[in-house]
Amino acid sequence: MSARRRPARRPVPLEGGGVDLSTRLGSLELANPVMTAAGTAGHGAELAAYLDLSRLGAVVVKSLAAFAWPGNPSPRVCPVPGGMLNSVGLQGPGVESWARDELPALRAAGARVVVSIWGRTTEEFAEAARLVAGAGPGIAALEVNVSCPNLEDRSRMFAHSPPATAEAVEASRVSGLPVIAKLSPNTPELLEVAAAALGAGAESLTLVNTLLGLFIDLDRRAPALGAGGGGLSGPAVHTVALRAVYECRAAFPDAGIAGVGGVADGAGAARMLMAGADAVQVGTATLADPRAPAVVLSDLAAVLADLGVASVREVVGAAQRPAKER
Ligand SMILES: Cc1cc2nc3c(=O)[nH]c(=O)nc-3n(C[C@H](O)[C@H](O)[C@H](O)COP(=O)(O)O)c2cc1C
Repeated sequence: MSARRRPARRPVPLEGGGVDLSTRLGSLELANPVMTAAGTAGHGAELAAYLDLSRLGAVVVKSLAAFAWPGNPSPRVCPVPGGMLNSVGLQGPGVESWARDELPALRAAGARVVVSIWGRTTEEFAEAARLVAGAGPGIAALEVNVSCPNLEDRSRMFAHSPPATAEAVEASRVSGLPVIAKLSPNTPELLEVAAAALGAGAESLTLVNTLLGLFIDLDRRAPALGAGGGGLSGPAVHTVALRAVYECRAAFPDAGIAGVGGVADGAGAARMLMAGADAVQVGTATLADPRAPAVVLSDLAAVLADLGVASVREVVGAAQRPAKER
């Protein structure tokens, strides 16, 4: 993703090689800013075979509902120009099964666990949040995925409506965990939706979920995905995510922000931080290489060292500041 080619860098140890990588996302103190993105790192400790999960800032698990959910018909993923399209459709075992079958391995791996939840009604968000609260210790925060259809509003996405987003966030606070609202880029009202989420008690925002898209299979003369359309992710959404982060940081200087979209290397992560993100999530890149979050982390340390940066906190929002203060 680098616009300008940099010389080959020395591998930098995950500890940071001299750069203080620690950051703060809302009330969460993270050892470093690199997190996994919901839905791209499994439900549990699947990635532990490829990297040390305790070294990441946090692990966000695939969105869970209060109930088991089968997801969408296949095919559910396809490569497209600039990234991939998916319509997995939030398949999952439900919070209780997840807590029984997956959470112990995440705890054993020493992961900082963020649980992503979804629902089709406000009450389903509340129920999922209640079940997460009952799942026991070892959960750092709740990421509330409001990019799902609201059955109480003609299936319009929660994340496309400020009041519906506020209701889902408010309902999710029953868990008592710090709430991070994960927003959709498919709305001209992103700032209004973000304000609604923060006003309802979210302390942080994750920006952004996938962009709505569709691809055509020429042989079948039909949409490539079983569900018809899907969500675009990967390099093509990087600039969209940067803009969302930049605008939300300018509008909400005190909110925690996790930037996600097309981050595949240290330069991409550094751009997110400079745009205003306190932390960065790695999604589609992990599907291509399960080591990607660790690779991004060590590359970010190298990029920041190259730039003469002493600490991650020093660059967060740098692009918002007057030239002399960057
Ligand atoms: C296969 C796949 C499944 C996803 N599942 C979820 C999910 O369950 N919950 C969620 O909030 N986002 C989900 N996402 C969105 C990602 O977390 C992320 O916001 C988006 O892909 C943009 O980041 P990226 O370009 O790094 O992938 C999914 C993305 C992909 C590619």
